[in-house]
Amino acid sequence: MELTPETVVVITGASSGIGAAAARRFAREGVRVVLAARRRDRLESVAAEVRRAGGEALVVPTDVTDPEQARKLIAETLEHFGRLDVLLNNAGQGNLAAVEETTPEQLWQIFAVNAFALWYVTAPALPVLKAQRRGHILVVASVAGRWGYPYSSAYVAAKHAAVGFVAALRTELLGTGVEATVVCPAAVDTEWGMVAQGGPVGVLFQEGVQRSKLIARQRLLPLAPLPKVLSADEVAEQLVQVVRSPGCTDLFTHPGTEELAVLAARNRRMFEQLMLPFYLGVGQVYEEWKRDGRLPMVP
Ligand SMILES: NC(=O)c1ccc[n+]([C@@H]2O[C@H](COP(=O)([O-])OP(=O)(O)OC[C@H]3O[C@@H](n4cnc5c(N)ncnc54)[C@H](OP(=O)(O)O)[C@@H]3O)[C@@H](O)[C@H]2O)c1
Repeated sequence: MELTPETVVVITGASSGIGAAAARRFAREGVRVVLAARRRDRLESVAAEVRRAGGEALVVPTDVTDPEQARKLIAETLEHFGRLDVLLNNAGQGNLAAVEETTPEQLWQIFAVNAFALWYVTAPALPVLKAQRRGHILVVASVAGRWGYPYSSAYVAAKHAAVGFVAALRTELLGTGVEATVVCPAAVDTEWGMVAQGGPVGVLFQEGVQRSKLIARQRLLPLAPLPKVLSADEVAEQLVQVVRSPGCTDLFTHPGTEELAVLAARNRRMFEQLMLPFYLGVGQVYEEWKRDGRLPMVP
């Protein structure tokens, strides 16, 4: 899609991380951005940055797990700008808990923000995009939507749902002129790892990676092929390029992750064998945290 001063880009989860970086990057293209998340003060500072750089931003504080607030986000966008061209469904949250320790509340919250919200926000936007016969819906899922890892089962399952949502949506968009892309990042340097439900899953993974090196040495195993961490700006750049050049169904932001996803789909046992030192490392650290009474650590 050509990005022009008329183009309107709605971004959920725009108060930090990938969403905030995407807002700044899309604004540099001269488009108008609508910023949605729960923390108004953080949205206002992203909007101030956009405006200082000469862009136009509308702040709509929104909890995307509330269908009524999600509907209002789209309604206010149309009221203010009279159109909507790109919808970046990016809001999300991780979780930290073994399967048997995942509470119903955690399960519900994680599915609400990572999966149910996709319906809540996308549904009211669809009639507008279809009537325009132009638009692009992006969903920021994760490599967690392509393969599993331990102590985040709610998140892994919800991101698999997000991948399924886009697969189904695309079949309903055939011939409408509206694009849909699922985005699957691996690790990105944002607040995500610190604000997960149940505790700082990012710290667990960092300590798990260190431990995995020891385990690999002891057991004479190769290191798990973990992709390098990207910045939110590097991901935002890829989002802009995908919107600019149509036809991308699945965006794997990190080199090597598409190949890993194919392997996980073809031969899960072989994939798990490759990742074994990481899984064991994370497992050891999790058990130590639990033994020391450090779990759950609700942020
Ligand atoms: N960072 C990674 O390593 C990584 C890897 C793969 C995929 N992802 C995915 O990338 C997306 C962006 O995450 P990030 O890394 O940028 O993390 P982040 O910095 O924690 O950003 C998450 C965003 O989601 C918003 N959010 C959370 N719950 C919400 C709710 N109920 N309603 C509205 N907004 C909500 C947060 O804003 P408020 O708190 O202000 O509402 C925040 O703006 C997420 O979907 C995440 O799962 C991240």
